[in-house]
Amino acid sequence: MSTIIELKEISFSYGNRKILDKVNMTINSGEFISIAGESGSGKSTLLYILARFIKPDSGAYLFENSRPSWAPFFRRKNIGFLFQDFRLLPFLTVEKNIAFPQYFSGRHIQQSTIRELMSKLNIESRRKAKPDSISGGEAQRTALARALLMNPKILLLDEPSGNLDAETEKKLIQIFLDLRNEGKTLICVTHSAEIMKASDRILDLKNSVFVERTGKKPGGKKAGIK
Ligand SMILES: Nc1ncnc2c1ncn2[C@@H]1O[C@H](COP(=O)(O)OP(=O)(O)O)[C@@H](O)[C@H]1O
Ligand SMILES: [Mg+2]
Repeated sequence: MSTIIELKEISFSYGNRKILDKVNMTINSGEFISIAGESGSGKSTLLYILARFIKPDSGAYLFENSRPSWAPFFRRKNIGFLFQDFRLLPFLTVEKNIAFPQYFSGRHIQQSTIRELMSKLNIESRRKAKPDSISGGEAQRTALARALLMNPKILLLDEPSGNLDAETEKKLIQIFLDLRNEGKTLICVTHSAEIMKASDRILDLKNSVFVERTGKKPGGKKAGIK
């Protein structure tokens, strides 16, 4: 399996408060990783560093074994980000929210691709609705479809099942597994035992460093493969 992301001795502070302290992390292409850790431990900050929204104070970030390109370009090409609060644009329909990223990227996306995405995420019947009239699960799938529009290699997911009921969460996990089986790399910050169980590896962020959780997942990598 090839390495897609490598963090070497990454440190980051907000002001004089250290959030990440020489963090090392290697992620293989096609892995589904869960990141756990107490509230305030720096999980979202780590996702922002992976997406290159923020720059670490020190350390190296390698993408496919080399230094990544200019951050906005890198992000457009490689990263899909699902924010914890979805960040849908309230004045646009579901369909237009999903279609939105192409206007930044300068790459036209076929209407048929958008239709396929909506159908895959079971949101097509709501395509004309505005975000304030859809359910939490639908908003989440809309945000996920938007994150997938430009066909990124990596999906960064910030507590995606925070407000979902068990049944909706189960469907979401199946979508994650399908994406993983299509070859995407998923990095998911979560408190959900179900998501952790479905993922290939669990990393705990604790005291500003990562600890790999072992021995908790019967079947390991096999778990979740259909
Ligand atoms: N922009 C910011 N400025 C200063 N402190 C911040 C900022 N964003 C987050 N923090 C603090 O950094 C710590 C880590 O935040 P975060 O990465 O959001 O944690 P988590 O996602 O694990 O809950 C928290 O204590 C938070 O209050
Ligand atoms: Mg967070």
